[in-house]
Amino acid sequence: METMYWENGTLMLLDQTKLPGKVEYIQCRDYETVAEAIRNLRVRGAPAIGAAAAYGLVLGVRSSGAANREQLLARAREVADALTSTRPTAVNLSWALNRLLARLEASTAADPQELTELLISEAHAIYREDLEGNKRIGRFGQELVPHGARILTHCNAGALATAGYGTALGVIRAAHEAGKQVSVYADETRPLLQGARLTTWELIQEQIPVTLITDNMAAYLMARGMVDLVVVGADRIAANGDVANKIGTYGLAVLAKEHGLPFYVAAPLSTVDFSLASGNDIPIEEREPGEVTHLAGIPVAPPGVRVWNPAFDVTPARLVTAIITDRGVVRPPYGESLAGLLRVGK
Ligand code: MRU
Repeated sequence: METMYWENGTLMLLDQTKLPGKVEYIQCRDYETVAEAIRNLRVRGAPAIGAAAAYGLVLGVRSSGAANREQLLARAREVADALTSTRPTAVNLSWALNRLLARLEASTAADPQELTELLISEAHAIYREDLEGNKRIGRFGQELVPHGARILTHCNAGALATAGYGTALGVIRAAHEAGKQVSVYADETRPLLQGARLTTWELIQEQIPVTLITDNMAAYLMARGMVDLVVVGADRIAANGDVANKIGTYGLAVLAKEHGLPFYVAAPLSTVDFSLASGNDIPIEEREPGEVTHLAGIPVAPPGVRVWNPAFDVTPARLVTAIITDRGVVRPPYGESLAGLLRVGK
């Protein structure tokens, strides 16, 4: 199942809000459809929204009728701004869009058609590199996974959240492929249930044993000695190694520390935002109350109740045992080890 694909100048996006009940693709012929899909989590997960936004920029530029290079560049910046504003936390979104804009600006081509082709090839490159990077994350990460490990994960950092294979689930997949007989506990991940709906769905298809738990069961699971390690993805990692990921991740990291369990974060280098000194600077998306007051459209709280709904939290670097990237595994102090990765070739 492809999270997205490009076909005859159209971006086809798997509508993840319909999973696991229905497998439906949305045809995106304009950037507004892509922006709506990102905002409403039809496509979600940091690397996946980066790749989708890249294709969205192509669509926005292609339909603009720009007559020359200047018009095309102006349009590209305008569409990139609109796409960037859809979700604030995952840095892959602006990273991908900036990469496309930089490619345009570096080109001396004057012909709008030629510039559009450049954008398409860059969007394909982002997609392809993400898939390849995730396989490397899997290879590096699986070395940290003991035979028979029982692994807890949160949200969905799988094929659905990326161009394919996944980051945290990539590590689990690679361990499974290496014959390590791993099994997984998937947090349901309130409020939008990415763990229950998406992670279990992916793992069942791969025939990797998975047990679903609600988020508030993780502490007892660890206390009972039923889990050996935690691995999660990331939406943005600050230069000091603080990690923003799906709300609930921080709690798991605190619990892992209390129970003496390794807490691993798996993410490509494109998720590291070297411009931010610490996690305090990471913008945290707050979403609408209806996601908390309703479950699948059914009200589960009194009408009008006040709600706080941050979509992500920040795990301090001191709670992270290691960060598994597409360029290798790094350990504290992250300020130095993450910066060192910039010198490592792909
Ligand atoms: O709100 P979502 O579903 O986009 O949140 C996704 C996550 O928090 C993932 O863990 C993260 O983006 C990493 S995906 C490889």
